[in-house]
Amino acid sequence: MLDKFTKLTPELYGYVLEHRSERDPVLAALIEETGKLGGWSMMQIAPEQGAFLTMLARIMNAQSAIEVGTFTGYSAISIARGLAPGGRLLCCDVSEEWTAIARDFWQRAGVAERIRLEIAPATDTLRALPEGETVDLAFIDADKVNYKTYYEEILKRLKPNGLIVFDNVLWGGSVVDEQNQKDDTVAIRALNDFVASDPRVECVMIPVADGLLLTRKRAAGETR
Ligand SMILES: C[S@@+](CC[C@H](N)C(=O)[O-])C[C@H]1O[C@@H](n2cnc3c(N)ncnc32)[C@H](O)[C@@H]1O
Repeated sequence: MLDKFTKLTPELYGYVLEHRSERDPVLAALIEETGKLGGWSMMQIAPEQGAFLTMLARIMNAQSAIEVGTFTGYSAISIARGLAPGGRLLCCDVSEEWTAIARDFWQRAGVAERIRLEIAPATDTLRALPEGETVDLAFIDADKVNYKTYYEEILKRLKPNGLIVFDNVLWGGSVVDEQNQKDDTVAIRALNDFVASDPRVECVMIPVADGLLLTRKRAAGETR
């Protein structure tokens, strides 16, 4: 197979970051604040992923969004910024400590009114959603072993043409290392395989940062 991709170097990655239009002092301050958490800060999404989520939400004119895995709130701000007027984002996380930072920055970013945060295991939050609640856009970026559960819980509420975006689907490259049988790796591999052959959706993997998997729910009667 021809290598139809350009390998990123730190210099080229810097170039990528320079060439996006979403330059937001609040997000820059959030990166700095999250950096104070030390190694945990690695969990924050990359800036180009945030800009991509904002653009997706805008293109879709998303009214209703769900995020699984909020941490200090970067992806939530990115999604909330792109929502249609009156749009709402439900955020799921288990950490009061990390999401306290998120709440502060949502205020500063002017998106707090659009966001509802539920502190509980996301499976419980999703299963407790009212009957008939529908979703345009979801971003899944939490515990990897539950990705498949989050997928099924959200897919049944997703509108036709709605999108579920998964983060970390390359898992540092370990998805193609068969020697790596750690729980997280096995779960991500299984999710990637399952979604790729799921007739309910159309999917494409985008190698940005640690890999995004975009999954669009097919409309009824849609032909390939
Ligand atoms: C990778 S971080 C999310 C990063 C975030 N999207 C951002 O942009 O900064 C993963 C988050 O998932 C949360 N988490 C882990 N297990 C969870 C669960 N069972 N239910 C809900 N959230 C969970 C963690 O507390 C953590 O904040």
